[in-house]
Amino acid sequence: MVPPSRSLEDFTDLVSLAEVNQRDDPQTYARLRGRWGEVAPVELVPGIPVWLVMGYQEIIQVSRDERLFSRDSRHWRYLGKLQGSGSPLALMMTPQEHSHFADGEKHRRLRAPLDDGLEGLDEHRTSRATQAICLGLIAKFADRREADLVTEYAALVPMLAVASWFGIGTDDAGRLMEAMASLFVPGQDPRPGMEIMQQILSGLILAHQEDPVDDLTTALLRHPNYHDASEVTQAIVQLLAAGQEATVAWIAQTLRLILADSHLGGRLRGGRLGVEEALDEVLWRRPPAANIANRYALADCEIAGTRIRKGDALAVSYAAANTDPRVHGDDPWLEIGNRAHLAWGAGPHVCPAQRPSRTIVRIAVETVLTRLHDLRLAVPAEEISTAPSISTVCPAGLPVRFTGFS
Ligand code: HEM
Repeated sequence: MVPPSRSLEDFTDLVSLAEVNQRDDPQTYARLRGRWGEVAPVELVPGIPVWLVMGYQEIIQVSRDERLFSRDSRHWRYLGKLQGSGSPLALMMTPQEHSHFADGEKHRRLRAPLDDGLEGLDEHRTSRATQAICLGLIAKFADRREADLVTEYAALVPMLAVASWFGIGTDDAGRLMEAMASLFVPGQDPRPGMEIMQQILSGLILAHQEDPVDDLTTALLRHPNYHDASEVTQAIVQLLAAGQEATVAWIAQTLRLILADSHLGGRLRGGRLGVEEALDEVLWRRPPAANIANRYALADCEIAGTRIRKGDALAVSYAAANTDPRVHGDDPWLEIGNRAHLAWGAGPHVCPAQRPSRTIVRIAVETVLTRLHDLRLAVPAEEISTAPSISTVCPAGLPVRFTGFS
């Protein structure tokens, strides 16, 4: 257990968050719990420590208490150091004018348009668009009878599908995706990528202002909570980026579990488990947003006996919370249909896109399972590695073979 008097800077030889994700193993959290309790010091990047909050109740406490735990990284004493480190993470953690970094009233003002806009999405239209996107991607590799279902499919579906909500076509969505990815390449000048994004999004807003169509861009532009079009642009960037990695991971992990895990795959093929249940099983066993560093202590305080100091950063570990022994009962029957996992977060910042992102993932998984015949892994399951990330756990690749398609 962490002695109450020690501060983050007192610890050396800490495990890094990237390593925790790379191991992708519930035992890692059990070991961290055994050594530190529900709150463990870990390294975000070399020389920058954060607290990893693992307990289910503790995460709920941190997520709900905005007066003590802010989302505004300007309260973090390491922000300047991270920005000077050249780490691609700096861009992700530098505050922007959207709901992610806001607390209290400002958060509610910027959050309501996201909830209203996503609530108003036409389920049938978005489903059809997602299905067409999935089939278009499959058509590109179908003749080969083999593919990498991560790089050629899962990594592409979410951006193209979310872009379609705004009326952004696949060509511009592809350019946006490349431009956004270029911002995170270490040592690469981010300005050309930013210019491309700016150009596509300002064109989109202008076109919708002149000729409003019934889509999410128009819904956001009409929302009374926004002060100007620049806030709408920020919201669009946020929605395009926020769920990207997690949705990719959710599709890829579900396919991986179905193809590599004979237990789950067998139950699915035997008809005892539907795709919906497989999706929930992934949310429990491999939450797509595994660990997210996004809370900053506004005052000295204590969580589960660990002393947190003003200016410390906290990473919430949804992956650890879902393995919290206090959450699971002894009766496996009570687990069926149980959606009490924390994969979507908790409190005021809880994911606003639960329903539409689930639709994307369900369609992406079902389309592959129904359209590709005799689908199987092309490599032994043990050879599938995890892509490096500090927040998600996603296979780096999923090579498959199939005998035909329809
Ligand atoms: C279409 C895909 C998605 C979009 C557009 C999206 C959008 C967002 C946005 C805008 C936020 C910030 C809300 C706020 O600050 O008030 C958020 C938070 C979050 N999302 Fe999503 N999301 C998507 C998919 C996912 C998926 C697949 C997962 C994991 C299953 C996920 C998990 C989370 C979590 C854990 C948070 C943080 C909650 C917290 O800090 O308390 N999201 N999402």
